[in-house]
Amino acid sequence: MDSYVETISPKNIVKRSVPLGSAVKVHVISDLHCDRQSNVQWWKQMVQNHINESKKEQDERGIQVHNILIIPGDISHQLKVMENIFMEAKRGYDDIFFIPGNHEMWCTSSSNYTSSLDKCKDINTLCDKLSVSYYPVYYPDCNLLIAPIWSWYHASWDTTRRKSYVAYATANASSVVPFEDKWVDFHLCKWPTNIDTHDEITSLKSSTNKLATYFASFNELWLERFINGEEDLVPETITLPDSNKENMEIISFSHFVPLQELIPTYLFHDELRKVSGSNPLKNQIHRLKPNTHVFGHTHLPVDETINGIRYLQWPLGTGEERLTSCSKVDRTGPLCVYDNSDEVEISNGFLGF
Ligand SMILES: [Fe+2]
Repeated sequence: MDSYVETISPKNIVKRSVPLGSAVKVHVISDLHCDRQSNVQWWKQMVQNHINESKKEQDERGIQVHNILIIPGDISHQLKVMENIFMEAKRGYDDIFFIPGNHEMWCTSSSNYTSSLDKCKDINTLCDKLSVSYYPVYYPDCNLLIAPIWSWYHASWDTTRRKSYVAYATANASSVVPFEDKWVDFHLCKWPTNIDTHDEITSLKSSTNKLATYFASFNELWLERFINGEEDLVPETITLPDSNKENMEIISFSHFVPLQELIPTYLFHDELRKVSGSNPLKNQIHRLKPNTHVFGHTHLPVDETINGIRYLQWPLGTGEERLTSCSKVDRTGPLCVYDNSDEVEISNGFLGF
């Protein structure tokens, strides 16, 4: 195990209680892209709307709600912006979960990073400082597991031979800039050479999945133990009777896409499929068997149930996307994907007084 895997990998599942008698709600939103000031303003408004609605519900129904927010990556490539967005989120949400997307991995010239994995470690440190969870957490009060899944894409994940509108339109053009030259990750993400060569990672024709496998290895320590029911081997991990585990609600999330079916048949840029998904991610989700898996990255809202798993993308996106493909997200803000408030008894007896 190299030092990055050692440092970044969650060692076990954290157990966390909610205040006695509280209902629990889980909300999701991805791809906030808050390098744009208009998205920052939107986020502030959405958090305030959520605070107002939560207070109204509390007054009307007499129940306390523990609100959880999942952000599956792409807030910003700047740590300072990420910090501001987390701080804003903490005004309205009790627990925040996050996993870095590709934008967080950019080593821009204004930063001193020579490795995206060093930046990744600093992001985790920032998350620790702000109590943002980038590791799995189990809530015994409602038998709920929330599991961030680290991932990265590889071109060989895509096996389609479809052609995009752009490919049709430019088939005979001689001055088209190759996608590899335009895709910013290929220039700003820096990976240790012991994982794979730069040429393999940045080629859309490459069959390698070494970087995707490397990212998936961050999840293995806790995942393997959880699946094998060996959690009692480590005192800090969960200790549940099997029957409880069978009824557990599991919400996992990643930045990247697990299944090819979750990308539309036709895209504007066909090459985007080559930089979107991961087979090691797909395999880990199949092993974990969540009720819901939330992802991001493509900025295309998705709500599809495949083989019993609800796959969901709820992205804000940027510019035109907020007015078109992501307009519903733009209008409504984070989406509630779990709510046990109907099951929670109103215990204080003061409703209506
Ligand atoms: Fe992304």
